[in-house]
Amino acid sequence: MKKVLFALALVIVFALALVGTAAANGGPHGGYTATTDACAGCHRAHTAVGPNLLVETSTYDLCMSCHGSAGAGADTNVEDGFFLSTRSASTTGTANTADNAPLLAGGFAFYKTVAVTSSHNMTGAGNTNLAWGNGATNRGVQVAITDATFTCASCHDPHGSPNYRILKAAVNGAAVSVTQVDEAAKDYDTEQWGAGQSNICAACHGAYHKTAVGQGSTLDGTTYTHRIDMSYAYGANANPETVGFGGYFLPLAGGNVACQTCHLPHGSSAAMSGFANGGPTGSGSLPGNTTATDSALLRLDNRAVCEVCHQK
Ligand code: HEC
Ligand code: HEC
Ligand code: HEC
Ligand code: HEC
Ligand code: HEC
Ligand code: HEC
Repeated sequence: MKKVLFALALVIVFALALVGTAAANGGPHGGYTATTDACAGCHRAHTAVGPNLLVETSTYDLCMSCHGSAGAGADTNVEDGFFLSTRSASTTGTANTADNAPLLAGGFAFYKTVAVTSSHNMTGAGNTNLAWGNGATNRGVQVAITDATFTCASCHDPHGSPNYRILKAAVNGAAVSVTQVDEAAKDYDTEQWGAGQSNICAACHGAYHKTAVGQGSTLDGTTYTHRIDMSYAYGANANPETVGFGGYFLPLAGGNVACQTCHLPHGSSAAMSGFANGGPTGSGSLPGNTTATDSALLRLDNRAVCEVCHQK
């Protein structure tokens, strides 16, 4: 108990220190000065308990010590998918993000208070480094990424980056550029996307990033795929960004369809039933068939993501 309290006190002291040193990237992530204290929040020189000289046994545990359900070092609780504006001393994002607002990336364990039906699994038995469509032509096939363990640091650089949300400048061996849009005053619950939002996903699922006009009717390898990164306007349909559909609004990247228009990067609690649960036979699985226990990170129930734009 004493040890826990001591650890908690350390986190609080460290978090308090952050108020004075808040950097554009947020929290202890980057913008370091020559006399920075930040390294000491995450690394030990001689008595580290984790590889990379970390103060926690793994990168995942380190991130969750501040960003998890029990974390006290950050307001963004990525485990439950909520912004808790008063739980840490950090003020990053509090002016623009409502207390208890669902986070833009979703949640790893819960999203909008419901247990997730799919996630980019960062822990336990479900954690794998096999990604669908890794490479230009492998759509529907799982191929290992360069990181032996798929973790938070596969996508984010804890030391800050020139990209939006400290997304790494190099992911899975590919250069990644995602424009920063709200670095001066963070907003963690309203879409703030700029150019290149699909690039982070394309780094590991390259075969899904197909952008040609008429892509849906153009054979690419052995299958067809939905076009990405085009304007969302389809035919004479109502503008989903201003009228919504069935009460839903799809987020768009500068008026364009990005991977995140349909998918949440961390985890989703969307419900899949009927044809969306195993396809016409009821027994299918990914690729192609979502199920009640695997919603493929889709942000809305069943295929609501299709109706928002196509309104059939
Ligand atoms: C928010 C926590 C955090 C802070 C603050 C932090 N690091 Fe790190 N650092 C990490 C993590 C996590 C890794 C391992 C990343 C991985 O798993 O790939 C790492 C890896 C490293 C590495 C080895 C890999 C590389 O990027 O070269 C070095 C060197 C390093 N950190 C130095 C520093 C220094 C110096 C500071 C202070 C200026 C610092 N770190 C601050 C979390 C942090
Ligand atoms: C597959 C890549 C990927 C992985 C893995 C990942 N993230 Fe993220 N994360 C993102 C993206 C993309 C965003 C930006 C979401 C947005 O603004 O629409 C984000 C946003 C965030 C945010 C800002 C709050 C929010 O929800 O927008 C935090 C904090 C965060 N991630 C922490 C983590 C932690 C901690 C882990 C590991 C447990 C992790 N991320 C794993 C891609 C990833
Ligand atoms: C010592 C506490 C601490 C640790 C450890 C920590 N973070 Fe953070 N992080 C913060 C704070 C504070 C913020 C500012 C926002 C907030 O209050 O949640 C932040 C913000 C972020 C953001 C949003 C950056 C932006 O541009 O808005 C991401 C993404 C993120 N952290 C990922 C990670 C990842 C991945 C790890 C593990 C490698 C990690 N963090 C470890 C405290 C921490
Ligand atoms: C660093 C590599 C990496 C990046 C970047 C990445 N993914 Fe993944 N993705 C994986 C791996 C590995 C898996 C399989 C393991 C898993 O599902 O956790 C996966 C699984 C998935 C799945 C299937 C989930 C399921 O239900 O099984 C979807 C959908 C997906 N990713 C979409 C995305 C989107 C959208 C982005 C961008 C926001 C993205 N990925 C970015 C590596 C990545
Ligand atoms: C954010 C808006 C948006 C969403 C969401 C969306 N679409 Fe589309 N869809 C488009 C646009 C725009 C095009 C035209 C692409 C082009 O220029 O080739 C298109 C093309 C298509 C086509 C090809 C039509 C043709 O003329 O060849 C089909 C089929 C289709 N979508 C089905 C779907 C399905 C099924 C879903 C749900 C999984 C979906 N769409 C979700 C905007 C969207
Ligand atoms: C218009 C909505 C939409 C967009 C945009 C979209 N996806 Fe999907 N994605 C889906 C749907 C729906 C599924 C469920 C399976 C299916 O219908 O093929 C899916 C499934 C997946 C899967 C799981 C494997 C599989 O093939 O079933 C991965 C990985 C994936 N998407 C990655 C991406 C990436 C990467 C992007 C951006 C380059 C992206 N998606 C953009 C709707 C979308």
